[in-house]
Amino acid sequence: MNRHASGVAVLDLEPAASDFLAEVIESLFSSPKTLPSKFFYDERGSDLFQQICELPEYYITRTEAEILRVHGAEMAASIGENAEIVGFGTGAGIKTRMLLGHLENPIAYVPVDISKQRLMDSAAALQCEMPTLEILPVCADYLQPLQLPRSSRKPDHVAVYFPGSTIGNLEPPIAQDFLRRVCRLCGHSGGLVIGVDLQKSPEILEAAYNDSAGVTAAFNLNLLVRANRELGADFDIAQWHHRAIYNREIGRIEMHLLSARQQTAHVGGEEFHFFPGEKIITEFSYKYTQEGFIALAATAGFRFSHVWTDPQKLFAVFHFVVAD
Ligand code: AVI
Repeated sequence: MNRHASGVAVLDLEPAASDFLAEVIESLFSSPKTLPSKFFYDERGSDLFQQICELPEYYITRTEAEILRVHGAEMAASIGENAEIVGFGTGAGIKTRMLLGHLENPIAYVPVDISKQRLMDSAAALQCEMPTLEILPVCADYLQPLQLPRSSRKPDHVAVYFPGSTIGNLEPPIAQDFLRRVCRLCGHSGGLVIGVDLQKSPEILEAAYNDSAGVTAAFNLNLLVRANRELGADFDIAQWHHRAIYNREIGRIEMHLLSARQQTAHVGGEEFHFFPGEKIITEFSYKYTQEGFIALAATAGFRFSHVWTDPQKLFAVFHFVVAD
């Protein structure tokens, strides 16, 4: 148990540092070559992601926040009273605050985040704003199986809140497994409120992931910068370019790093050759239709309850309940 200066205690289930070197080598040996997107988020990467969220082209964050602002009261009513809210990766917690502020007699809030500092800071700030709410922060990887702490009062039901469309960064079978675990975690009469990015014109999508200020490019290239710094790799950063394309058939943004020329890079004693134009796949961001996401959630044991969208139908926030 760690305690923040404000007195908020954190249940520390932080996973052991994953083996960056082993995972980089293994994914560069795959064909096509890949690099795992979970390694985007070192300090610089997290900072760049915050900047992405504020870009004019990156509609996701502000559209979801606007949906919460307009429909937060309806969402809270749909969740119901005496709920325990479990927040996955809720970060700075602005959207969570909009939701919690409308809830009738919330029993407890359990934010789960892998970044201990961000978790403690946002929990402490929230505790100041809502002094009577029981807050039980858990530092853990919410994509892995999880045991939650018990709140001092027994809730009528548990609702998981998973904003940001992070579900889109999981391949559908992994997303399905994850949703199944969420379903078990919620238990009988539980629910899930989840933000999901919707399919739309390739122009809007490709602009969001190829912003004119080059922030997404820096975010993508930071993977190589990080490998050079932390693993002693020798990627020539100037010889790599960022590209994001929308694969319309599959419904996903594909982020690549493209080799500008014939080149070789060394990582941990291994040598990797790249031909001109060769790609390293760094991230998928799946975009769903409303029906497609409802069908995916159904295979994981959730029954559709409500959906709220913006007027342009760029983004959706769903409420599902655990099917009987
Ligand atoms: C975190 N995730 C929802 C972002 C997305 O839109 O898929 C990550 C991201 N990658 C590039 N820009 C943003």
